[in-house]
Amino acid sequence: MVKRYSFGDVFQTDSIPVIPEAQTGAMPYMDVCESEMSLTYQMDPEDIVYGLGENVRGINKRGWIYESKCSDESKHLEDRRSLYAAHNFIVVDGRETFGLFIDYPGILTFDVGYTELSTLRITASDWNLDVYVIEGESAVEIIRTFRKLIGRSYIAPLWAFGNGQSRWGYVNAQDVRDVVRNHRENGIPLDMVYLDIDYMERFKDFTVNKERFPDFAEFVQEMKDQHIRLVPIIDAAVKEEKGYSVYDEGIEKGYFCTGADGKPFVGAVWPGRSLFTDMLNKEARDWFGDQYKVLLDQGIEGFWNDMNEPSIFYAEDRLADALASIADMRDGDQNLDLDAFTKFKNLVLDLSANPEDYKKFYHNVNGKRIRHDQVHNLYGYNMTRAAGEAFERLAPDKRILMFSRASCIGMHRYGGIWQGDNKSYWGHLLMNLKMMASLNMCGFLYTGADLGGFGSDTTEDLVMRWYALGIFTPLMRNHSEMGTRRQEVYRFTDLEGFKNIIGLRYKLLPYLYSEYMKAVLDDDLMFRPLAFDHPGDKRARTIEDQLYLGKELMIAPVYEQNARGRYVYLPERMKMLRFTRDGGMEETVLEKGDHYVEVPLSDVVFFLREGRLIPLSGGGQCVDDVDFENLAVVSFGENAEYEYYHDDGLSKDYENPVNRRVIRA
Ligand code: GLC
Repeated sequence: MVKRYSFGDVFQTDSIPVIPEAQTGAMPYMDVCESEMSLTYQMDPEDIVYGLGENVRGINKRGWIYESKCSDESKHLEDRRSLYAAHNFIVVDGRETFGLFIDYPGILTFDVGYTELSTLRITASDWNLDVYVIEGESAVEIIRTFRKLIGRSYIAPLWAFGNGQSRWGYVNAQDVRDVVRNHRENGIPLDMVYLDIDYMERFKDFTVNKERFPDFAEFVQEMKDQHIRLVPIIDAAVKEEKGYSVYDEGIEKGYFCTGADGKPFVGAVWPGRSLFTDMLNKEARDWFGDQYKVLLDQGIEGFWNDMNEPSIFYAEDRLADALASIADMRDGDQNLDLDAFTKFKNLVLDLSANPEDYKKFYHNVNGKRIRHDQVHNLYGYNMTRAAGEAFERLAPDKRILMFSRASCIGMHRYGGIWQGDNKSYWGHLLMNLKMMASLNMCGFLYTGADLGGFGSDTTEDLVMRWYALGIFTPLMRNHSEMGTRRQEVYRFTDLEGFKNIIGLRYKLLPYLYSEYMKAVLDDDLMFRPLAFDHPGDKRARTIEDQLYLGKELMIAPVYEQNARGRYVYLPERMKMLRFTRDGGMEETVLEKGDHYVEVPLSDVVFFLREGRLIPLSGGGQCVDDVDFENLAVVSFGENAEYEYYHDDGLSKDYENPVNRRVIRA
């Protein structure tokens, strides 16, 4: 049951495709305080608060304050209040169980017991918002109702479930060829190589550097002949440069965001001075979407959209002011004491993503000028929507891979997301796991984190443990920052170990793809906290380092350095499956309760529920190699059955009944 309560003059976000009638009575559960622009709820000590999709901290969001404010937040530290997304959906589960979605494009605060331990307070920056109250028997039922309300999640092509290799710093065709050769020669499966900003001509969207990639279309084909798809990055900002067609055309047609003076707003990102396409203006959005054609025409079938919070390194006027102030400081050889030096440092640090700069530019929404900060969280969403809508026009019968960095709810219909610039920290491996469940609640199913960690130097054991989780996530990609230690798996010592782990992904693919597709088509969760299946089990309600994956499996990755195993809590009897480095599989039945499980570095261990089975393929070096029809099964118990979903992975005939069949042991 969904009830909408509407306040003020609500901006049409299109987060919800079909908006239900607004209610007139008082809102249940929440105390509404219009003068403070807040909604408040007194939490019971046992209540769990789920949701908020991409954000820091736990699956249970209690004990911190979160801001829905899409931010280029590369530190990912525990003290942050936001990451790249604004996912305004929560479920309170306990004494009372209900869901809340705040349809609002500006900045929102979720104080979940930060100011006062037992108070949940949601505060908006202005009082123009729709609040949806969602009721149901359980947290899962509420989430399914919410997912139905926001519309079907984006569906990725099957090949995008293969292993992907990325690095900021593969600068030319030869670098890419080397990556592919090293994988193939070492028998490490691979399906995608990502192209970071280095492939562009001086960071200009929709261009390819001709010196580095002399015949791009031919190169794309050369890779396809080896079953490799190239996936280029697209950035939000457009370089200011006369003669660059995207800039010229955008200026001529008035498609860029403008400043208070009506002139295009200039901020800087990778190319230096850049402009921001007005993604909220339908005409401009269509135009930006059409630009992807130039790469589609050269054989590209997938993209990642980046820097679309949007990230701004500096605004022109702020840079000028900062430089003038710094010059003043040196005037007369001023001594930089503590105060002066702090001021100097902050002049530089405050240049990037300065909240005041988001108040300096405007969108044109149906002829009305809207200041950016009031609709900030819609930018990345609408950039990805631009692409998604364009793909429907340009390649209607084909699935195109698309995932974005910034997002808000609504964008889940047009693309997946990756979890942004994490670091090579053990804690970020665990955060990757936790976010899978929260993201699924908010409709993001094609997702994963940079395996091995994006920033900082990694270590072989961290990469290996991270893969032992990454083989389960729909988006499986090793990506790292320029200047950090190289982390392609073939650079490490235990190649056999990596081969075994990544090889297992391809054996699991029939199950993983089937679970992903069923979760999308049935508005369900692919990854669930244990508590969802055992609501009465107090232990299960506190477990955040294990997740159910589909109806059959539980995963419990190792996320600590030098650990030789870990404690696992089984809320019911399960069969432990251990895949060893020699390609073998061991099966051990374990009773309900706590177990210490040894997990040598190159083993993968997970758990199969009683009365269930999973299909396994024979594996392969790429998705095209995998036989999705002749499957082995691993089962636990008599008469186990599995509802297997499979389709061609490329076209869009999702509902065809032949896609689903029952597999028996
Ligand atoms: C951003 C992205 C990262 C990318 C880098 C260079 O930091 O999040 O993935 O490698 O930009 O394009």
